[in-house]
Amino acid sequence: MIQSEPANNLFLKACRREEVDRTPVWFMRQAGRYLPEYRAIRAKADFLTLCKTPDLAAEVTVQPVDLIGVDAAIIFSDILVVPEAMGMQLVVEEGKGGPRFPSPVRSKSDIDKLSVQNACSSLGYVFDAIRLARKRLNNKVPLIGFAGAPWTIASYMVEGRNPRDFRHIKELIYSNPHEAHALLDKLSTVVTSYLSAQIEAGAQAIQIFDTWGGVLGQEEFEEFSLRYIHRIISSVKRNNAPIIVFCKNCGHSLEKIANSGADVVGLDWTTDIGKAREMVGSFVALQGNLDPTILFSTPERIESGVKTVLKKFGKGNGHIFNLGHGILPETPVENVKTFVNAVKKFSTAFH
Ligand code: CP3
Repeated sequence: MIQSEPANNLFLKACRREEVDRTPVWFMRQAGRYLPEYRAIRAKADFLTLCKTPDLAAEVTVQPVDLIGVDAAIIFSDILVVPEAMGMQLVVEEGKGGPRFPSPVRSKSDIDKLSVQNACSSLGYVFDAIRLARKRLNNKVPLIGFAGAPWTIASYMVEGRNPRDFRHIKELIYSNPHEAHALLDKLSTVVTSYLSAQIEAGAQAIQIFDTWGGVLGQEEFEEFSLRYIHRIISSVKRNNAPIIVFCKNCGHSLEKIANSGADVVGLDWTTDIGKAREMVGSFVALQGNLDPTILFSTPERIESGVKTVLKKFGKGNGHIFNLGHGILPETPVENVKTFVNAVKKFSTAFH
């Protein structure tokens, strides 16, 4: 395992709420279709081939560090490679509404069939990509690994595609909670080993994405999502790697999320980062939370949006600047650079 600290250590320091000169910045879907350099590689390889070819995955992971100047890299992969490794067929077709599972999980026997023991050995390409990306980053900035939260992964497995009304997964939790827990339990076991193996391969921080936590009521969120996030955090082999938990639209449960054992809590733009800091900023760092759609506006509007977030967080340590969700594919690259430069420029005033 590579142990040395990166030259640009702002991101890891901010995760630990240590003193920094300015707020570090990175964002979700950092390597993606808004970048012509990413599209050039995607023209030669489909999305899953890109994920499964460590050399290409490492290359696109590093692109935004060189091109945009972010303070951390996130390994190029997808949360849905986990159910594929557990035995489901995953299909990603061009222009057909994103990834899907043609045979979704709909019965107890579908859940029973999912493999737990061998899942991580099918994900060797992710660990290889992490090792290669670490080499290519050469300790310039830290590398983040990630996984989906069990609830979010299960939503895709049961719905079979990008969920809209969550009819099937919610039917499962309300009509058959025992089976829902059996599925979430299997996923937690796999995600725990998967994240531990990413850290072992060289990931220096870990993010857990709960994109769909916010579609549940507060009690259900605790029972079917947060409980499993908590379990993963308490059993993952961390080796000092900070853990970031991002639950979209879950401002209602901020304190409970901050008590999950996470070092950093990610916020979407619907939560006021100043109020969040008042509530939980004394025991976790905060990540967020500019609305990614602001990046379609003018440089002036982007700069004022960045300033507002910085002002709301206020002076002090423990802030990682991020978008409140993934960057959208058609975002103009110039505006992305304006955003990252604005964080670097204006945040010095807050430290
Ligand atoms: O953030 C990064 O740069 C790392 C790479 C990353 C991807 N997906 C690449 C990707 C990460 C961290 C993810 C996580 C992911 N994947 C989540 C959780 C975070 C979130 O955004 O809410 C979810 C829900 C998924 C599932 C998924 N994968 C969807 C819904 C889609 C379709 C999105 C779209 O806009 O078409 C994907 C495909 C995907 N994953 C793309 C990328 C860059 C687009 C693929 C392409 O090049 O065509």
